[in-house]
Formats: sequence, structure tokens, C-alpha cells
Amino acid sequence: MNQTPYIASEDSALLRRALSEYSGLTCLEIGSGNAGALIQLSQSFATAVGTDLVRPTMMDWRKVGIDFVLADGASCLRSSTFDLVAFNPPYIVEAVGADAAIEGGEGLEVPLEILREALRVVKPDGKVVFLLNDEAELAKFRKVCSDSKFRLERLESRRVFFEELSVYVASANSASQG
Ligand SMILES: C[S@@+](CC[C@H](N)C(=O)[O-])C[C@H]1O[C@@H](n2cnc3c(N)ncnc32)[C@H](O)[C@@H]1O
Repeated sequence: MNQTPYIASEDSALLRRALSEYSGLTCLEIGSGNAGALIQLSQSFATAVGTDLVRPTMMDWRKVGIDFVLADGASCLRSSTFDLVAFNPPYIVEAVGADAAIEGGEGLEVPLEILREALRVVKPDGKVVFLLNDEAELAKFRKVCSDSKFRLERLESRRVFFEELSVYVASANSASQG
């Protein structure tokens, strides 16, 4: 597996801009790469946690009191813990091979599994904010959300070179909140 952290790019910047609207007590970023978004989140959340398969090489996150864990998804974390869970997953439709930072699987199994994990660890009234490109079959992502009684909305989109990137938010179905 490639052990080099993902270099923040246009996709990272688009997600970070959307995340600037959120604040609260606890947040998690799954697949936090070099932790740029996490450092931003640590300004507006009392506790910020990141996970990734690869260790960050930039060390700025250590100065701002972030907790980083080498973990698969949110596997090491308790259910219903975070006000916000964010992720910019490997979203390219391509078999998973050498580069776990970009290859999402032929059916985007990797981001779908990260979404399931995010919905497990987010609080029932929390939000999951994430990025995909226009190759994603949104119906599959909506189904994962509705299985957890969340609904999916698109927040914003931007065309970058050959692809359209979109940021989505999953929030509790108001009908299911009783
Ligand atoms: C597109 S990069 C985004 C990195 C960073 N968050 C950003 O926006 O610049 C996807 C990240 O997800 C991580 N990743 C892939 N599969 C993962 C998994 N199962 N659990 C945790 N992290 C994973 C990769 O190592 C990579 O750092």
C-alpha cells in the first residue's frame, strides 16, 4: 500500500469550504490525510479526531490538540459519538490496488463502507458531510443513508477539469425524529 499521504487538492479545498459552516463539541474526519481539514475543524469543535490508513507526514496537527488514529474507517470508535463526521474518500471508480487514497473500488465499495461507518458513529441529530464526483451512483449512497434514517442533500458542486465534484450532507430524517 502507498504510505504517502494524499496531497490536499481541489477536492480537499471544496470540502473544507463546506465544513467552515459547522461547529459543535465533537467531530471526526475519516481519511484525514495530512490533516489540513482537521486543523480547520479544530478551530470550531472542542474535540477533533482523525483516522487514516496512512500516517500524516505534516506534523502541524500535533500543535492544535487533535487526536489522530491509524485505523480503518471509524472501526476503533464508539457509536453515536460525533456531532459532525466528514470525509473526502477515495472516490474514483477503479479497483482497489496500489493507491488507497484514490481508488474507491469498481462499485465505490470503499466510500459506501466509510459512509456506513460515519452513520454509525455520528449522533442521531448530527451531520455527515462528504465529497463525491459525478461517477457516483447517488441512489446507492441515498439507500445507505435511508437505512440509518438519514436523508442526503447536495450542498454544492464544482467542475474541476474532467469531473464535477459535489459536497453532500446527510442529516436525520425529520420524520424519524418523532
Ligand atoms: C482523497 S484522500 C483525502 C485526504 C484528505 N482528507 C483531503 O481531503 O485532502 C482519501 C483519504 O482516505 C484514506 N482512506 C482510504 N481508505 C480508508 C479507510 N478504510 N479508512 C481510513 N482512511 C482511509 C486515504 O489514505 C486518504 O488519505
